Amino acid sequence: MEELNVGLGDRSYPILIGSSLLLKSAEHLSRVSFPRRVALISNETVAPLYEGEVRKSLEDAGYNVTTILLPDGEAYKTLASLEIIYDALIKENFDRSTGLIALGGGVIGDIVGFAAATYLRGIPFAQIPTTLLAQVDSSVGGKTAVNHPLGKNLIGAFYQPQIVLIDVATLKTLPARELSAGLAEVVKYGVIKDRSFFDWLVQQGEDLLNLSSETLIAAVKRSCQIKANVVEVDEKESSIRAILNYGHTFGHAVEMLSGYGNYRHGEAVAIGMVAAADISRRLGRCSSQDVEAVRDLLVSFHLPVLPPSFPLDDYLHAMGRDKKVQEGRLRLVLNCGLGDCSIETVAEPDRLFGDLLEHWPVTGVA
Ligand code: NAD
Ligand code: GLY
Repeated sequence: MEELNVGLGDRSYPILIGSSLLLKSAEHLSRVSFPRRVALISNETVAPLYEGEVRKSLEDAGYNVTTILLPDGEAYKTLASLEIIYDALIKENFDRSTGLIALGGGVIGDIVGFAAATYLRGIPFAQIPTTLLAQVDSSVGGKTAVNHPLGKNLIGAFYQPQIVLIDVATLKTLPARELSAGLAEVVKYGVIKDRSFFDWLVQQGEDLLNLSSETLIAAVKRSCQIKANVVEVDEKESSIRAILNYGHTFGHAVEMLSGYGNYRHGEAVAIGMVAAADISRRLGRCSSQDVEAVRDLLVSFHLPVLPPSFPLDDYLHAMGRDKKVQEGRLRLVLNCGLGDCSIETVAEPDRLFGDLLEHWPVTGVA
């Protein structure tokens, strides 16, 4: 088992990464003195697969467990799902000495984190992420939220878990498309922070797709380490944390214009990373070989690299709604070569993205 620490003073917490960790959930939770009365919150897809294992470990160790199930899907990342959780907690007399456990992908993790942040003004929670995206990104760093009909993640809080338990064995049941979506975020870490990790991913791609435990654990560990290091210096995204949104400006526009749900978040980010890399090349921050390397690695992970066809104005409008817009100017995360990045305000985004859409860097893609 591998272990990392997210160093945030009295809100610090461990991330444990291994295979078949769920069987020892109780042992791991007791290390951080997690409350013994818990609500295990999952959805109708993940619970039949893993709730039994976690519950057995907890109950064998004397924990008092209430399971709460939500419907599956981004469409249920809503205030209504929060209400289901609050109702169950209140009916079962959950007090401030109890805790919540999120068992599922990023949707469950984000909802449960926000429920924990707000129930009785805050109770402890643990993350047990079961998608690759949740294991390398959403379970770490304390961003919690639900959606509003007018936009994604608009109602939320920064609220850190007590512990993150990552069991890569859960990825065996994950649909291939979800695995690829998670790999997009893994590629992101290599591009923005670690050239040798990027090169390692190129070498180990096949093993990752074949779910080799050892390779998955190494990839998840390095990804979480990079994210933790960023969060440690900028927990609330007032500066450097924005680099974690590399590829997301154009990616969010792809998601928004195509209608949420048509692209997985990681798929849209893959397209956005090709855009970000080519913009970086156009601004002299990286070479065309770097752009090709990013694109080829994403293609090898079965990710889309072509933008859906929408007018430039629609893309510009959608990107204008991105959180990285300050005083009407577009701020982008650009990769400097591979393994480093910077946040820059770009002039003439209409010309830049117009050229990009006209000459999208796809030559050589089968
Ligand atoms: P998801 O939670 O919807 O999971 C994808 C699908 O896989 C779901 O149908 C889920 O039930 C199923 N699933 C989960 N684990 C499984 C397993 N082991 N086996 C079989 N099926 C399994 O999607 P996601 O990609 O994990 O997360 C996306 C969400 O994460 C979005 O809402 C996004 O806003 C959020 N997010 C949050 C952060 C953050 O920092 N908090 C970062 C990135 C994304
Ligand atoms: N997923 C980006 C962040 O956590 O900041």
